[in-house]
Amino acid sequence: MNKPKRYTITTALPYTNGPIHIGHLAGVYVPADIYARYLRLTGNDVAFIGGSDEHGVPITIKAKNEGVSPQDIVDKYHAIIKKSFEDFGITYDNYSRTSAPIHHETASEFFKTLDEKDEFMEETTEQLYDEEANQFLADRFVIGTCPKCGNEEAYGDQCENCGTSLNATDLINPKSAITGNVPTLKKTKHWFLPLDKHEAFLKEWILEGHKKDWKPNVYGQCKSWIDDGLRPRAVTRDLDWGIPVPAEGGEGKVLYVWFDAPIGYISSTKEWAAREGKNWEPYWKDEDTKLVHFIGKDNIVFHCIIFPAMLKAEGSYILPDNVPANEFLNLEGNKLSTSKNWAVWLHEYLEDFPGQQDVLRYALNANAPETKDNDFTWKDFQARNNNELVAIFGNFINRVVVLTNKYYNGIVPEPSDFETVDEETLAAVKAYPDVIASSIERYRFREAGQELMNLARLGNKYLADAEPWKVIKEDEARTKTIMYVALQIASALATLSEPFLPFTSEKLKRILCHSELDSESQWNDIKTNEVLLPANHQIGKAELLFSKIEDKTIQTQLDKLEASKKANEAANKTVEPQKDTITFEDFTKLDMRVGTILEAEKMPKTKKLLKLKVDTGIDTRTIVSGIAESFSAEEIIGKRVTVLVNLAPRALRGVESQGMILMTETPEGKLVFVNPDTSTALSTGDTEVGNGLQIS
Ligand code: 2FM
Ligand code: ZN
Repeated sequence: MNKPKRYTITTALPYTNGPIHIGHLAGVYVPADIYARYLRLTGNDVAFIGGSDEHGVPITIKAKNEGVSPQDIVDKYHAIIKKSFEDFGITYDNYSRTSAPIHHETASEFFKTLDEKDEFMEETTEQLYDEEANQFLADRFVIGTCPKCGNEEAYGDQCENCGTSLNATDLINPKSAITGNVPTLKKTKHWFLPLDKHEAFLKEWILEGHKKDWKPNVYGQCKSWIDDGLRPRAVTRDLDWGIPVPAEGGEGKVLYVWFDAPIGYISSTKEWAAREGKNWEPYWKDEDTKLVHFIGKDNIVFHCIIFPAMLKAEGSYILPDNVPANEFLNLEGNKLSTSKNWAVWLHEYLEDFPGQQDVLRYALNANAPETKDNDFTWKDFQARNNNELVAIFGNFINRVVVLTNKYYNGIVPEPSDFETVDEETLAAVKAYPDVIASSIERYRFREAGQELMNLARLGNKYLADAEPWKVIKEDEARTKTIMYVALQIASALATLSEPFLPFTSEKLKRILCHSELDSESQWNDIKTNEVLLPANHQIGKAELLFSKIEDKTIQTQLDKLEASKKANEAANKTVEPQKDTITFEDFTKLDMRVGTILEAEKMPKTKKLLKLKVDTGIDTRTIVSGIAESFSAEEIIGKRVTVLVNLAPRALRGVESQGMILMTETPEGKLVFVNPDTSTALSTGDTEVGNGLQIS
């Protein structure tokens, strides 16, 4: 383990245009929190910094759509997001927001410094303009075809399909996201950061300096950007929501959101230091400080190229030591999507699984998209809980605490002579802090979490092999030694689980009544001092740490997602165009009657056909209907239906069909009868009628 150091740890500032979901937690916030907690436990000086990103076009668009002000939108989601982080135990030293005055001042000053140092180019260029909306179109205000991959829904700042960062004028066939109009070109002045000027430095710093220690996905993206040749980037915009450009000619213009947002890390650190009576500067300006940015892969270029170029140009700041960006998390095989409601929202998870934050933290970390995109499935979540947290970790702790209470009234027994297995087990426990630390320090949080579970496995195996519940009948002294060793493992678990399972760790420390487990050096103590719970120490009663998640609970979540999918399909469904108009006379030729299905049977060797006997009121006749995939024969007997009785008979699979049962589809695509009774969904208006009558 390295000697204690000062760390500034930042996490991507989420846009405040919606709540946050499991993808955010898995990709950025859980790994960052594991890292920050671990560093604090090992005695380091940590500033763990976050905040909300409250500028940018998506927020303005949301405000426009909802008919409220951008400030209303950011106030609402800043509060929801901040609460989600608190609820899930993300231990920020400070969580700020970019609409805070301290941020406006800091970002303005930063811009002014670069301007005074002549680090910008001022240029008048032609930009896309929406004549009807009377506004320039930048970033997400414009949609068009990506010149790189052909995606027709790329935005003016980025193509979400291939990840390419774009300028609005790069788009092929651009359209305004406000009016849908084709934009015109209009001249306007902007400030540009000449990235090309920093190319040599970026090449040396990243391509030569960080080839080995940055993750391959991060290094690869940077290399491809640099190899493509860096171009000047506009850092101002013609918008009315953002930080005003503090320069002559900047009236009516604001700083580009990606210029101000990363400066938010600095403002948030300043806010924290002011509150704590500390000096913020060493956290950003002392070469001994290690600066680490936790982000998702779509933010790589901004944190590895543009922000470092800004920091370098300013001149007095340190640069990030590492940017451990993660790939994306999918949900049940599909991309997480806010607009399609294909997500597990953190605030909703807590309503369905109250008090079970650690289960989600654990499952997300165990399956984190560290090296490639990964899939979250509810079945995996259930298995992680039932087979690992309950069956291994929880089971071990429960056995130890229950047996200690049963045999010794909760008092840690005095061990007698250690056997080889005891010594080997205690030696293995002592090795775990370094094993876990080594994974964390290399940003391999999944591996670190699995090592923690291996320690619980070690405990389980030790108890299962030593069988104190049998030994107690013949050898009390040996039982005491076994229980003593098992209690040391439980104690190590209480400490080492804190970064991963903070709520569980706290509960376990409480059960073990070990105030020293809260000491600053607890992590390192495990390595040097095997007596973690000394003999004669009193522990508390057993409490369940985790409980089994049943299939029906998981099914409820899957049903929720299925409902989202159906709603999306219905929303995207193209409605069949209306058929040719018929005359009223044509219509009067149709003889429709209310009938009752008397008999129904599946036609042999067909998938779709049912043979029905229908009482039409004028006679009883045979009708062959193609509804067998939607209804069983049994369930429709006795059903009242609408029958077209004067359709010319025709033979279907050798049976003459003498009419037609009228059917239609609900918006969800479900086939239903055009039912003459008032009590049905269709006739009561509960369900909208879909795309017209279907002939069955
Ligand atoms: O991608 C996003 O959600 C951005 N709001 C992240 C900003 S990170 C930082 F630079 F502030
Ligand atoms: Zn693309």
